[in-house]
This record gives sequence, C-alpha cells and structure tokens, in this order.
Amino acid sequence: MALINLKLKERSKSYKIVVKRNFFSNIASKISSKDNYSQFVIITDKNVNKYYGSKLLSCFKKKKIKTQIYVLPAGEKTKSSYSLKKIYDFMLKKKCDRRSAIIALGGGVIGDLAGFAAATFMRGIDFFQIPTSLMAQVDSSVGGKTGIDLKQGKNLVGAFHQPRAVFADPCLLMTLPEKEYISALSEVIKYGIIMDRGFFCFLEKNIKSIKSREMKVMEEVVKKCLQLKAEVVMKDELESGLRAILNLGHTFGHAYEALSEYKGLSHGYAVGNGIIIAARISTLKGLLSKQDLLRIENIFYDLGFSSVYPPKDFKRFFAIMSNDKKSLKGKNRFILPDGIGKTVITEDVSAKEIKQIFRLD
Ligand code: NAD
Ligand code: GLY
Repeated sequence: MALINLKLKERSKSYKIVVKRNFFSNIASKISSKDNYSQFVIITDKNVNKYYGSKLLSCFKKKKIKTQIYVLPAGEKTKSSYSLKKIYDFMLKKKCDRRSAIIALGGGVIGDLAGFAAATFMRGIDFFQIPTSLMAQVDSSVGGKTGIDLKQGKNLVGAFHQPRAVFADPCLLMTLPEKEYISALSEVIKYGIIMDRGFFCFLEKNIKSIKSREMKVMEEVVKKCLQLKAEVVMKDELESGLRAILNLGHTFGHAYEALSEYKGLSHGYAVGNGIIIAARISTLKGLLSKQDLLRIENIFYDLGFSSVYPPKDFKRFFAIMSNDKKSLKGKNRFILPDGIGKTVITEDVSAKEIKQIFRLD
C-alpha cells in the first residue's frame, strides 16, 4: 500500500492519496469515518456502475449511512452542462445540503464532471475520488482540475477544487477495455520522460507485465505516477508555471484530435503521437540524443502505438495549436524533453521545424 500526502499552501485543502490492491471494499468505511456528512451521492457512469456501483452502495448501506447513486451515460459527451444540471436536480430532489459530499466513481469524465458539480453545488461541497480508469488512476483524480466541455472545445469551463481524498485500487483496472488501458499508458510513459529517468527504465523493463496488467507491477506504476503528479501539484497547484509540464505531447495530441473531429483517434493515442513529435523536435534541437529518442519511440511501438503520420492539413494543425490553452499572449508554448527525465518549456519551436519532423518541407 502507498499513502501519499498531498500538502497544499492552504493547509486545510491538503489530502491523502491511497493506492492499494483489493482495497475497494474498505473505501466506504474510510470515507464515512472522515467527517460528519449529512449524506453521500455516488456519481458514476453506466459501464462502471455495472461492475462497481451497487458494490460501493451496499458498503455504505451496510454502515447505515445515507447514500444515493446517480448513473450517467458513459463517454466524453457526458462531460456537459446538461449532465451537470441533471446532477444538481438529482441532489436537490434528494435534499442534499452543504454537508453532503459527492463521490466520483469512474474515469476522468466522471471525475471532472462530479468534481465540478461539487465545486459549484451550494457554492462548493466536499468530494472524493475513486478513479476506475487508468487515465484517472495515474492522472485526473489528483490535482483538483474539474470541469466540463462546451461545444466550442474541451474543458473550457471549470474550477480548481481539490478532493478530500483519493482512493485508487489498481484491481479495478481488470475490467477496463483494452483500448482504454493501452491508450492511457501514454500518460504513464509521460511521467518517466518529464521527471524520472529511473521510472522510464522501470517501464521499459516491465513492459510485458504492464501490458498483461500484472497487478503487483500496476500498483507500483500507479503509485509512482501519483507521487510524481502530487510533487508537481504541491509546487504549482494553479498551473502558473511548472504544472504545464504534465501536458507533454498534449498540444500536438489535441491538434490531431481536433483534426480528426474527435472521431476515431482516442485522446491517449493522440497524446502518444504528440509525445513522439515533441521528442523528435528535442532531438532536432540537440536536447535529446538519438538513442533516447529511439527508446521513447520503441516503448510506444512495443505497446502497439502506430508510427506518427503527418497531419493531413498542416496549416490547420498549426492554427489549432496556436489556440491551445497553454498559449500566452498569442505565443505557443511547447513542452519538450530535455533528455529522458527532464523537461523544458519553450516558445522557440517554429512551423518550419515541425514541418521538418514530418519531412513536409
Ligand atoms: P472515461 O471516463 O470516459 O473512461 C473511459 C471508458 O472506460 C468509459 O467508457 C468508462 O465507462 C470506462 N471505464 C472506466 N473505468 C472502467 C472500469 N474499471 N471497468 C470498465 N470500464 C471502465 O475516460 P478517461 O480516459 O478515464 O478520462 C478522460 C477524461 O479525463 C477527459 O475528459 C479528459 O479531459 C479528462 N482528464 C482530466 C484530467 C484532470 O487533471 N482533471 C487529466 C487528464 C484527463
Ligand atoms: N493533467 C494535467 C494536470 O492535471 O495538470
């Protein structure tokens, strides 16, 4: 078991992150012993509910704690203002008040949405994260970014609202569809590249066990990722600088996703491609050796990622990147590996250099 203490400047917002195999049935008693809540509302999606919804509900009921469950459709479309209103309606109907707490049981979609409902219901109530997807267990459940998508773009409305605690049981990953599992491994590899060369080597060495979801190894992986994420969040909770490194590969990835109109290319695969492009630019600039570039490409190919293809419409690709949330005063900011295990944030990447990567010039 790992217990990570995420300490924040505003001390009352600090929280614990538990990573432990076969811990799911203990989570209800951990949460309910925390504070004197009037009731709990579990928010989940249809897929997750099938495996874990009633199990969690019955754990609370056994303890005779007033608990409701609200089940939403699965998928990115659910991260909307429509779902948010449905959650408010449900909570008001169930007479939730300022002492009620939300439990987000699901992947990043449910975590972001339920977290935003908690940030805004009655001007803010407590919430807990029980991440069930790999993406959520290694990234989105920690750090307090909550929000919804608008038709104009992803995550355009939201709030920083930290959970009261995070409980990650890697055994829940056993039911995750293969595509979701493999594509989220790009976020895992990301941590090695941006912050920890030793972790990158661990991933290379254990790639087979990781692919086959060996739980002992996955517990190590989830623990390490959340330790690294917590380290970043503790230094820069509101993303005024350092936290941007967590977005390695995302600027290019988002541009691919937008070009594909969010059909056919999943976020994780797009990020994987984006990381490879960032690494190639680093090599072009002399920041990353050819040997390390090969290691980065190979770990993705070992997982079944296909090689990176040039965008169909480069002009649009570049224009989409310019609208990225990380842009400052109209200038693109790029996160580039500075070797494996270190990162630089730079504005100094030209369209010409990106074209060179794709051999378009
Ligand atoms: P998701 O929540 O849609 O989950 C992926 C799919 O897996 C869904 O169909 C879900 O029902 C299913 N699922 C989840 N856990 C399961 C389990 N244990 N067994 C069976 N099925 C399961 O997507 P995601 O990849 O988890 O998260 C993506 C979202 O996370 C995006 O909206 C992204 O913007 C957000 N995100 C947020 C942050 C943050 O810091 N807040 C960071 C990264 C990503
Ligand atoms: N996933 C990026 C962040 O939490 O900052």
